[in-house]
Amino acid sequence: MSWSAHVLTLYPEMFPGPLGVSLAGRALAEGIWSLDTVQIRDFATDKHRSVDDTPAGGGAGMVMRADVLARAVDQVLERRPEAPVLAMTPRGRPLDQALVRELAAGPGVSILCGRFEGMDERLLEARPILPVSIGDYVLSGGEVAAIALLDACVRLLPGVMGAASSGEEESFETGLLEYPHYTRPYEWEGRTIPEVLRSGDHARIAAWRHERALADTRSRRPDLVERHGDARRPPPSDARRED
Ligand code: ADE
Repeated sequence: MSWSAHVLTLYPEMFPGPLGVSLAGRALAEGIWSLDTVQIRDFATDKHRSVDDTPAGGGAGMVMRADVLARAVDQVLERRPEAPVLAMTPRGRPLDQALVRELAAGPGVSILCGRFEGMDERLLEARPILPVSIGDYVLSGGEVAAIALLDACVRLLPGVMGAASSGEEESFETGLLEYPHYTRPYEWEGRTIPEVLRSGDHARIAAWRHERALADTRSRRPDLVERHGDARRPPPSDARRED
């Protein structure tokens, strides 16, 4: 069975969206992965099909109801009991390449997309759900976050990327940012490509790239240097990020 994604959302029309083009779209058409959306509103029981209510304790906005969400989650758990259920929320565990890799190596994912002020916390306690955040900023809903997560997973599935990129060589796998890239023309707006990259001396090139990866990581992401130390090797240049 192919890697399968089930997305629980109030806006199924947002999918596949960007996942329908380029690498992910081709892989979807080829059956390397599958995508199903579930309309959360279908699990409402009142005549207004309401999925949210006012926050207990007062305050702005609305909160997604635990009972409605639980019915949707239970159906997806019944259909794909082996797939982990994630909830996209800025209160979640930060998504990183290690989690992406773990999810891509499994059978697929079921993803609950939050809207409004969030979900009733009791749902997250009562069901095996992993809350996941894609960064310290607030989106208008979990759908864009789910698309980012799925894109990161799908590109790692066997047969999606060319042979050029074998996962272990990519950014973050080494604990560092990747070194910078250059291509023709040699001179552009008075700026030239670093001479070492034209030398053909692979050892010197590798050393230069390692130094640049370290320097850029130190200046842009000191948190990564702290976490992983300076000794790691940078990824080689052939890690492919686009088609
Ligand atoms: N929903 C709203 N903001 C989010 C974020 N930063 N990550 C995941 N889901 C979200």
